[in-house]
Amino acid sequence: MQIPVHKAAELKPKPDQAKLGFGRFFTDHMFVMEYRENQGWHQARIVPYAPLQLDPAALVFHYAQAVFEGMKAFRSPEGKVLLFRPEQNMRRLNRSNERMCIPAFDEQFMLGAIKKLVALEKDWIPTESGTSLYIRPFIIATDAVLGVRASSSYKFVVILSPVGPYYPEGINPISIHVECRYVRAVRGGTGSAKAAGNYAGGLKAQENSKKEGHAQVLWLDALEQKYVEEVGAMNVFFNLGGELVTPDLGDTILPGVTRDSVIKLLRSWNIPVVERRLSMDEVAAAQREGRLAEAFGCGTAAVISPIGKLSWQGTTIKIGGGKIGAVSRRLYDTITGIQNGVLPDQFQWTVDAES
Ligand code: PLP
Ligand code: COI
Repeated sequence: MQIPVHKAAELKPKPDQAKLGFGRFFTDHMFVMEYRENQGWHQARIVPYAPLQLDPAALVFHYAQAVFEGMKAFRSPEGKVLLFRPEQNMRRLNRSNERMCIPAFDEQFMLGAIKKLVALEKDWIPTESGTSLYIRPFIIATDAVLGVRASSSYKFVVILSPVGPYYPEGINPISIHVECRYVRAVRGGTGSAKAAGNYAGGLKAQENSKKEGHAQVLWLDALEQKYVEEVGAMNVFFNLGGELVTPDLGDTILPGVTRDSVIKLLRSWNIPVVERRLSMDEVAAAQREGRLAEAFGCGTAAVISPIGKLSWQGTTIKIGGGKIGAVSRRLYDTITGIQNGVLPDQFQWTVDAES
């Protein structure tokens, strides 16, 4: 499939790199592709960034048949345009598709399309420390019908946004509310898919926790509300006396690309890391015994986000004396160093968008 490029007649001014925030500015072009039952995925093109025109009855508006991804592009000191493990995001998007009854796409083709779009927009990649070009591929159901069923037509869109840190705190420790009322995902549900509806369902708890001054919620398992699952849009790790513990994956946790990268880095440094069930009781006990050395969330948007305190059932669990822990710091520096092309890429994680 060819990808024609219709260039924007006028280019937008680039935003101030010191004031990017997260996902507030968008580049000049976007990628769009259509799906129809008898045609498959077709009509791939790069066009000027613009609003989409959709029928108000489009299934996505009513029943949230939609999936998305989040990845980043960086500019190396030599001017190369680098993507970080993008094939992992393509694979996960197809897995999300499978769960949400959306037809699979060709991962190689889409990776090529994303490289082409990012290369076209490379002047938008910010270079200040902690910045990058965030890539948001998403797929929406477009059949105009009110019956609840899987759509027979879809739109695949990719937009790009120059971003700074996800949290205003940056790499400083954040405060987290351990959510004991609402749940994010349950066995057999859609928690391990990057489905749009998962995020809408999480808003209530996030809003409540924000009112109490917390940056995010820590989700517990839906059945007993005892075991740690994820933090907002991040996977989570606890350093318990030198051993890093993260919840094992099931169908309630999003298998993060950053989570996988953290595990691989820790193993390469001979730092013990285990994936297992971890209860809040165990986290609280570890803190009482002085073994809770650090905790952090990890994800594409936030990279590594240290957790300074957890508010749980009316008590506050303080972690790391308000400072970023040594392992968290080393992970942040190494991951961002590899992503930006300033550290050796021993795992061959980066992909040159222009090759
Ligand atoms: N968990 C959730 C719910 C997410 O939305 C994300 C973000 O993508 C992650 C975890 C981290 O995944 P990744 O490291 O692939 O960005
Ligand atoms: C990401 O980390 O890429 C995310 O998608 C998080 C969020 C903005 C939903």
